[in-house]
Amino acid sequence: MAMTNDAINSDELVVVATGLTKHFADFVAVDNFNLEVKAGTVVSLLGPNGAGKTTIVRMLATLSEPTSGSATVCGYDVVRDADAVRGVVSLTGQFAALEDNLTAEENLLLMARLRGYSKRTATRIVEGLIDRFDIGEFRDKLVKSVSGGQRRRVDLAASLVVQPKVLMLDEPTTGLDPRSRQVVWSTIRELVQGGVTLFLTTQYLEEADALADHIVLIDHGRAVAAGTPNELKSQIGDQRVDIVGIDANGVGLIVEALSSNFQLVIDHNRRTVSVPAPHDLADLVAVTGALARVSAHVDEIALRRPTLDDAFLALTGQASEPYQQDQSIAEVTP
Ligand SMILES: Nc1ncnc2c1ncn2[C@@H]1O[C@H](COP(=O)(O)OP(=O)(O)O)[C@@H](O)[C@H]1O
Ligand SMILES: [Mg+2]
Repeated sequence: MAMTNDAINSDELVVVATGLTKHFADFVAVDNFNLEVKAGTVVSLLGPNGAGKTTIVRMLATLSEPTSGSATVCGYDVVRDADAVRGVVSLTGQFAALEDNLTAEENLLLMARLRGYSKRTATRIVEGLIDRFDIGEFRDKLVKSVSGGQRRRVDLAASLVVQPKVLMLDEPTTGLDPRSRQVVWSTIRELVQGGVTLFLTTQYLEEADALADHIVLIDHGRAVAAGTPNELKSQIGDQRVDIVGIDANGVGLIVEALSSNFQLVIDHNRRTVSVPAPHDLADLVAVTGALARVSAHVDEIALRRPTLDDAFLALTGQASEPYQQDQSIAEVTP
């Protein structure tokens, strides 16, 4: 990663937050948040709506002052050296500031002109961005009439009118359909190859997993866990097969059939057996094959991945068991 940019010193700490805290009146939106981001890496703040992600991003981008604590970006203090921070950071918000009644191209030109470029330079920069972000086919469409995925591409392009040292993307794919999400992901991957340090917020475990080197899980304004995607996943638990709605005699039979090959999680009350961590198709075939040889009725056999809910339950210690049925998750978080 970031190998294409020789200027990057990968030990350089591009973002440092120390005890960063934000109160809105009595409400603590961000509580003692600490973070170090190395140059050329992708860090993702992962958390549900209201966790405090945007508030953190806004403080780092100098749009909101911390109540206490401090942060630096490229060594500049976000309060004392706010102007310098603005010079190195580009932020694309969840709700981007594009002009609906301008075309995609006009929006980009406007952005470049606002950054102080001459007409000629602005045109050159915008042509490059249109090319890079595949905007050509809708460059003349009003932004209000393009698809969500296309709009997001214009957003991303707009945030790169000036090549920032640090790019902050606040929920870049929220509300996008899966195909547009893929397009945005590949665009983001290209940006990272170009050497930018990326600070990304998301509600999607999958997205953080796909893009980030380091994930900070945030809930109620606090970091509840942090690590590489693999480190977090090993804490959260892997995917599993749930065998649900087994008839009265079936549980014992199924356990007997599977327990020699798999470590099972058995819920007698719910008549459910979970098979943790099937790693490949052979595991799945072994499970279904064993089931076929047992004379038991089951309502459903489902391959499930840990959801963000699972992650929170597991990492905030609220979950009593690593593998829970969706119903019991619903009981814990009504
Ligand atoms: N300007 C504000 N005034 C009062 N409360 C706010 C303000 N901005 C955010 N909050 C509250 O702070 C919490 C965190 O919000 P936010 O940072 O937007 O979360 P996220 O981006 O993770 O969804 C929420 O409960 C939100 O309602
Ligand atoms: Mg937000």
